[in-house]
Amino acid sequence: MKAKKNIIKPTIEKAKTKVEQLNKTIKPKVKDVKKATKVKTQSIKTDTVKPIINKMKVDFEKSKHIIKEENQKITNKIVNTKNILISKIDQPKPFKTTAIIGCQWGDEGKGKITDYYSQNSDVIVRWSGGDNAGHTIVFDHQKYKLSIIPSGIFNKDSYCVIANGCVVNPEKLVSEIEYLKAAGFSCQNLRISDRAHIILSYHLAFDEYEEKIKGDKAIGTTKKGIGSCYADKVNRIGIRMGDLLDKDRLLELITDNLLIKNKILKNVYGYEKEFNAQTIYNRLLELLPYFKDLIIDTGQFLNEQLVRNKKILFEGAQGTLLDLDHGTYPFVTSSNPSASSIAIGSGISLKAINEIIGVTKAYSTRVGAGAFPSEVFGKLADYIRMTGNEYGTVSKRPRRIGWFDAVIAKYSAQINGFTSLAIMLLDVLTGIETLSICTHYTLNGEIIRYIPSQINNFNKCQPHFITMPGWNEDITNITSYDELPENAKNYLKKISELVGVPIRIFSVGPDRKQTIFIKE
Ligand code: GDP
Ligand code: IMO
Ligand code: MG
Repeated sequence: MKAKKNIIKPTIEKAKTKVEQLNKTIKPKVKDVKKATKVKTQSIKTDTVKPIINKMKVDFEKSKHIIKEENQKITNKIVNTKNILISKIDQPKPFKTTAIIGCQWGDEGKGKITDYYSQNSDVIVRWSGGDNAGHTIVFDHQKYKLSIIPSGIFNKDSYCVIANGCVVNPEKLVSEIEYLKAAGFSCQNLRISDRAHIILSYHLAFDEYEEKIKGDKAIGTTKKGIGSCYADKVNRIGIRMGDLLDKDRLLELITDNLLIKNKILKNVYGYEKEFNAQTIYNRLLELLPYFKDLIIDTGQFLNEQLVRNKKILFEGAQGTLLDLDHGTYPFVTSSNPSASSIAIGSGISLKAINEIIGVTKAYSTRVGAGAFPSEVFGKLADYIRMTGNEYGTVSKRPRRIGWFDAVIAKYSAQINGFTSLAIMLLDVLTGIETLSICTHYTLNGEIIRYIPSQINNFNKCQPHFITMPGWNEDITNITSYDELPENAKNYLKKISELVGVPIRIFSVGPDRKQTIFIKE
C-alpha cells in the first residue's frame, strides 16, 4: 500500500500543477473576454471589437477542451499506474515449486529423484508420514538411507524442512542426525515444525499389539507407531514438537495420555509392563538438545520462502496407493501421501504447487499385505527381486513383485495431476524376453479401468495385459534417451501413452548420475 501511495501521490501532484498552469493561462483570457463584454455593453459596438470577442470566445472554448483532454489523460495515467502496481504487488510471481510423488505402493525411487532435484533447490520439504519411509540415495560411491530427514540434506546450501503433516519419532530423528553428522552433513540446515506430532514408545507398542491381534488380517505395518500417532492427532490428544518447549505442559500431556493408554494396553492387549510418564519425559529432555534449536513455525518459514520466490521441492513419502483416502484401504498407511495433502501438511496454499512429478518403477512392487492384481511369482519374481535388490530399505522385507500396472498409474495421475513421470529401475528389466503391462481389469466379467473402493472387489479384479518385446543391451551406462535400445524406447512410449502423461526422466541405476532427463 505504501508503495502504491508513493507512486500515485506524485502523479496526482503533477496533474494538479498542470491544471493550475492551464488555469493561469486561461484566467487572463477570461478577464479579457469580460472586459470586452463590458466594452460591448457600454455600446461601443464597432465591427473591430466583434471579431476579437468572437476569437476570444473560440479560444476560451478551446482551452476548456484542452483542460478536459488533459484531465482525461491524467486519469488514464493514474489508472494505468494503479494496474501496474496491482500486478507488481498483489499478483504473485509464478512459484518455483516441484512435488515428487510416489505413483504406486511406495519405494518407487522418490529418494533418488528428490536428491537429483535438490541439487538445484533452495528448500526441500517432507510433509507427510514418518520413519515408515525408507529413502535410498547413492552418489560418489556412497549409499545413504534416510527415514525422516528429507533426502535433500546432502545439498548443504538448501534448507530441509520436516513440516507439520509429519509424525516424528525423536529417537529416530536424533539417530539420523548423528548418522548424517558422522558422514559430514551437519544438519544445521534442518528445520522441524512445532506442529509436527511426536511418536512415543507407547505408539510403537500399540502398533505392534494391534497388528498381532489382527493375526492373518494384519496390515503388515512397519511397526513404527505411525497409525497410533496419527490416531492421537485426529483424536486431539497428540503431543507436538512445540510442546517439548513447555516442560510443565509436556509432563501433564504424557501423564494424561498414559492414564488411558496403560489401561488399554494392559486390559485389551495384555501388555505386561506399564509406561511411566516421568521416564518418557526424562528421555525427551535428554534428546531435546540435539534438535531444540531447529524447531520453528515451518508454515510461516515456507510462506516467506515462497514470497522470496525460492525453489521449493516437496519430497513425497509412501505412494498414492497407500493413501489413507485414495489407496487400497485398509491396506494403506495412516497419512495422505498424494499431492493434494501438500498444502495441509506444510501450511502453504494449494495454488503454490506447479510441477508434480509422478515417480514410478518400470514394473511394480509392494511390501505388506493387500491386493496386487499385476503380481507375479516364481522365477520371474525372484529374478526381478534379485536384480532390483527389492528388499525393504529399513525393514529388509522382500518386496512383492508385479508387472507395470497402467490402471494404477493412470488412477494415480488422476488424483495427483502429474505434470510428468519419472520411470525408475528401467535397467532391471534388461534381459527379460517379453514384458507385460496391465491395461485393465475385469470384475465379475465387466471391464474396469479404475480402483474399486471395496478391497473385496479389488481382490477379485482380474488383470489383462499387453505384451512387448524386451531388450538385452546393458543400459546402465547410457546418458541420453537416444542411446536406449528401440524396444526400451517403445516400452517407455507405451507407458506414457497409457497413462496419458509425458515421461521427463528415466533412471538406469541407483546412482545420482544414472538419471536421464528427456529434453522436450
Ligand atoms: P523410495 O522409498 O521411493 O525413496 O525408494 P527406495 O529407496 O525405498 O527404493 C528404491 C530402490 O531402488 C533403492 O534401493 C534405490 O537405490 C534403487 N534405485 C533407484 N533407482 C534405480 C534405478 O534406476 N535402477 C536400479 N537398479 N536401482 C534403482
Ligand atoms: P517409502 O517412503 C513402502 C506400507 C507398509 C504397510 C502399510 C502401512 O519408502 O516409499 P505403516 O507403518 O505406514 O502403518 O504401514 O504401508 N508402507 C510402505 N511401503 N514404502 C513406504 O515408504 C512405506 N510406508 C509404509 O509396508 O503395508
Ligand atoms: Mg522406500
